[in-house]
Amino acid sequence: MKALGYNTYGDIDNLEILEVKEPRIKKTEVIVKVAAISINPVDIKKMQGGFKPITNINKFPITTACDFSGEITEIGRDVGAFKVGDKVFGMTDILFGGSAAEKIRISQKFISLVPKNISLNEAAAIPQVGNTSLLALRNIASIRKGHKILINGASGGVGTFALQMAKIYEADITAVTSERNSDWIKNDFKINDVIDYTKDDILSTDNKYDIIFDANGNLSFPKVSKILSANGIYVSTKNNIYNNIDVAKQLFQRKKSRVVLSGRTSTANLDLFRMWIEDGKIKPIIDKIFSFDKYLDAYKHLSSGRARGKIILTID
Ligand SMILES: NC(=O)c1ccc[n+]([C@@H]2O[C@H](COP(=O)([O-])OP(=O)(O)OC[C@H]3O[C@@H](n4cnc5c(N)ncnc54)[C@H](OP(=O)(O)O)[C@@H]3O)[C@@H](O)[C@H]2O)c1
Repeated sequence: MKALGYNTYGDIDNLEILEVKEPRIKKTEVIVKVAAISINPVDIKKMQGGFKPITNINKFPITTACDFSGEITEIGRDVGAFKVGDKVFGMTDILFGGSAAEKIRISQKFISLVPKNISLNEAAAIPQVGNTSLLALRNIASIRKGHKILINGASGGVGTFALQMAKIYEADITAVTSERNSDWIKNDFKINDVIDYTKDDILSTDNKYDIIFDANGNLSFPKVSKILSANGIYVSTKNNIYNNIDVAKQLFQRKKSRVVLSGRTSTANLDLFRMWIEDGKIKPIIDKIFSFDKYLDAYKHLSSGRARGKIILTID
């Protein structure tokens, strides 16, 4: 069967369509015939060997991506919650990838039924950005009604999910984006307070935020500390040395800094996204859909750093 991956660490040009063996399941796993995947900046970091110190993978080929949607074609002996024919969405481990293939094997713990009111393409857009936003806003920042939150990188995959999630929690939202996305964020997401980072310095505000979610990851705790409230928290998607030093330093301060490390999702998290989507509270935001053979165009578009929402690759 076909998969999308690489035979050496390097740039996106190393991606190729591979011929790989069909997966064989264990008792608690299912086989999913993949319909669509979404791609993420993390895929590129992994391709470049960025996770090699943690994963220690030297065996090639490596199949890229982790988000997927599709239909179950086979179930393991001990799988109770799903059946053959179910349309599901989910995510493989963020560090190991492996979803960009015609068929994948996945534990029943990392899938959920596709929400009734969206397509398989839209479902593939959800898991990683949903999981990252949930971890950042609910688990780490304990978001609640009335919290003043600033979301930096609001127009990207993570940002567009986080905006909608912050609305569910009735937070008071400020979105940071460039001029070309400002009106879209204001009108489509009904966000009154939008800062255009190409014109205005976010630090020049008199506002104090309870949460700063740095979805883009180009800020830092020392930089934004002065616009955090007394017990405010800065959460970043970027796990770099500077942010880790900040995390260590802030043990001595009231304001806090944390880095999101979203390894895996869970059926419970995916079920929550399904509920929000079916209730009309969250809409997957898709920038572009590419066919499988246009994988390089898709990853080039992702690499531009200018995507509005998610980029999808259809597999079948
Ligand atoms: N730690 C984790 O578990 C985890 C999980 C998921 C993602 N991430 C990381 O989170 C980051 C964002 O992911 P993503 O999927 O949202 O990326 P993305 O979809 O590629 O983000 C693209 C968006 O970033 C915005 N942007 C670019 N430069 C900006 C700047 N200087 N200030 C504010 N916004 C800017 C762009 O808007 P404009 O064109 O308007 O600038 C564009 O809409 C990536 O670095 C990714 O690796 C980490």
